[in-house]
Amino acid sequence: MNEAVKAFQLNGKVIAVTGASSGIGRQIAITCSKLGATLVLFGRNRERLQETLEHTDEPQRHLIFDIDINDTGLVADAVKQAVAQKGAFSGLVNCAGVSPTMPLRATTEAKMQEVFNTNVIAAMSLTKAVCKASNSSPDGTSVVFVASVMGTVGEMGKSLYGMSKGALIAGAKSLAIEYASKNIRFNTISPGVVVTPMSMSSEYSKDEQKLQFVTGLHPLGLGKPEDIANGAAFLLSDASRWITGTDIIIDGGYTAK
Ligand SMILES: NC(=O)c1ccc[n+]([C@@H]2O[C@H](COP(=O)([O-])OP(=O)(O)OC[C@H]3O[C@@H](n4cnc5c(N)ncnc54)[C@H](OP(=O)(O)O)[C@@H]3O)[C@@H](O)[C@H]2O)c1
Repeated sequence: MNEAVKAFQLNGKVIAVTGASSGIGRQIAITCSKLGATLVLFGRNRERLQETLEHTDEPQRHLIFDIDINDTGLVADAVKQAVAQKGAFSGLVNCAGVSPTMPLRATTEAKMQEVFNTNVIAAMSLTKAVCKASNSSPDGTSVVFVASVMGTVGEMGKSLYGMSKGALIAGAKSLAIEYASKNIRFNTISPGVVVTPMSMSSEYSKDEQKLQFVTGLHPLGLGKPEDIANGAAFLLSDASRWITGTDIIIDGGYTAK
């Protein structure tokens, strides 16, 4: 394999992916496995995690943990077990998330806590565990947060979701500075609307006219999970070794206007 091709491969890298039981996280897992990574997959639904595993290259090479990422004790145990069995992490993709659509008047404190717990705090806690010197690869580690275009632009009913994704985009920049000397990189990916169980359960997807309107906001049409997975694989690979603290927008042109 020549050097240029080798830079995009993930052979020898242990990579954790949350949200791996569905949609974008599932595809990130599949793509990374085909590029040679050994995976540590997180999701709550064991059956769907198992389905993801079946689509990976060499399913027996990987580990799955069906846990709620808000349970810090279970997450800490999983990280410990994974490092003991597979070695230190070279990558982490924080993809698990929830996407409420609600106007401010309907937004309760409990809902704010629920969204920030899953989208921000759980991701930060897992990141903290992976970035411990004993858990991260001495050859360097790449951490990717799956944010959203809603982290930088607005949409009706997306204030709470947008705030949680904006927090990831902002936080990753300071983490990039804090950990550069330890060779740990941090970046975010901001997708536009991608066809997944999450987006297809939205109100607009249940109405053909509304779905057409949302599709029309994306000059290249709606995205596929593969479009985001390819970006994540690049950020996890050595081909992106000089990229840290940035937000890669993958949105079919949604924010170009
Ligand atoms: N689809 C889009 O248009 C779009 C656009 C921009 C950004 N995003 C972001 O991309 C990410 C993935 O979205 P998706 O569309 O692939 O959604 P999805 O199909 O609904 O998948 C969400 C994933 O998150 C996991 N998850 C949620 N809460 C969890 C928890 N407490 N503990 C463990 N796992 C949890 C789910 O696990 P279980 O199903 O096993 O519970 C599932 O694997 C999200 O962060 C989302 O905000 C999506």
